[in-house]
Amino acid sequence: MSKSYKIAVLPGDGTGPEVIAEGCKVLDAAAAKFGFKLEKVSYDLGGERYLRTGETLSDSVVAELRGFDAIYLGAIGHTDVKPGILEKGVLLRLRFELDQYINLRPVKLYPGVQCPLRDKGPEQIDYCVIRENSGGLYTGIGGLSRKGTKDEVAVQQMMYTYAQVERCLRYAFEYARKYGRKARGKGDINKLALVGKSNVLTYMYELWNRVFDEVGSEYPDVKREYYHVDATCLYMVACPEMFDVVVTENMFGDIITDLAAITQGGLGVAAGGNLNPEGVSMFEPIGGTAPMWTGKNAINPLAAIGAGAMMLTALGEEKAGTSIENAISVTTPKMKSQLADQMGFTTTQVGDLVAEALA
Ligand code: IPM
Ligand code: MN
Repeated sequence: MSKSYKIAVLPGDGTGPEVIAEGCKVLDAAAAKFGFKLEKVSYDLGGERYLRTGETLSDSVVAELRGFDAIYLGAIGHTDVKPGILEKGVLLRLRFELDQYINLRPVKLYPGVQCPLRDKGPEQIDYCVIRENSGGLYTGIGGLSRKGTKDEVAVQQMMYTYAQVERCLRYAFEYARKYGRKARGKGDINKLALVGKSNVLTYMYELWNRVFDEVGSEYPDVKREYYHVDATCLYMVACPEMFDVVVTENMFGDIITDLAAITQGGLGVAAGGNLNPEGVSMFEPIGGTAPMWTGKNAINPLAAIGAGAMMLTALGEEKAGTSIENAISVTTPKMKSQLADQMGFTTTQVGDLVAEALA
């Protein structure tokens, strides 16, 4: 009997549905080839639904989503909805409710993809950022006082518990052991770099650095490095080849992964996973809804397709996940660009190319 996985599909807003359709096309091709089933159920969460019903995400939908093997998300956001409502009400709420405490963002430059960094190619840009996804500034603790006066005070707390830091770092060390350079046959050592700001955020990084060494002592096969976040931005541009696996807190991780994304060809190709290694994980292209390209069959679906590959790998279908990645690397050299409307192909054609390369 073939294995079957229950997938909740959340196409979302803007170009989300278009890229998710291509992702599903490729996932179905992989399922047929590797002999497993994907049972997909769609949910219309997002801006359209919010404008229609006033609802972002109900408790009952959250409860249903807990029953799936994984969630496949397009993008959420709407030009007619005030910033923050959908982000907090849907995306962040799902991350928090499902305790998806890892945000895994591979930084991989596929062959033929234009890179804004001179002299850097697929050999140099091949690392992974593990962003803590449950705490830090995203915890949402803070407020305003004396509003409307010159003495107004705004507070937003950067906070972490030992347990949050420990589980994230443990995941990162395990990941570096399993997928680091040496493990992938691409170097003689697996490395994990902690990115922080220990020279200024002394309490924060006293905790992170201490737990990093504590947990790291259990992983003698993973070399530990530490970099400040500002210097990391510089290195990511000047010498990205120095990175193997990178781990950092939530806000820094948000920022550096957009920088990383442009070095791998932009948001059209960058995929990510919100992982609860013990629960339900959610996979998404890291870009947004790209409203100006909606309905034009012009947006790049590769990030969504790559997110689908990550999903299969996380479900234990590693061969299928890897073969989708290989199919992407056969497709990128055929494309003129990774930018919307400049690919030399339509959205659906790019999906077809990947599905064909897979078959
Ligand atoms: C991301 C996004 C989100 C974040 C926003 C939309 C809330 O930028 O997934 O990186 O800040 O995490
Ligand atoms: Mn972001």
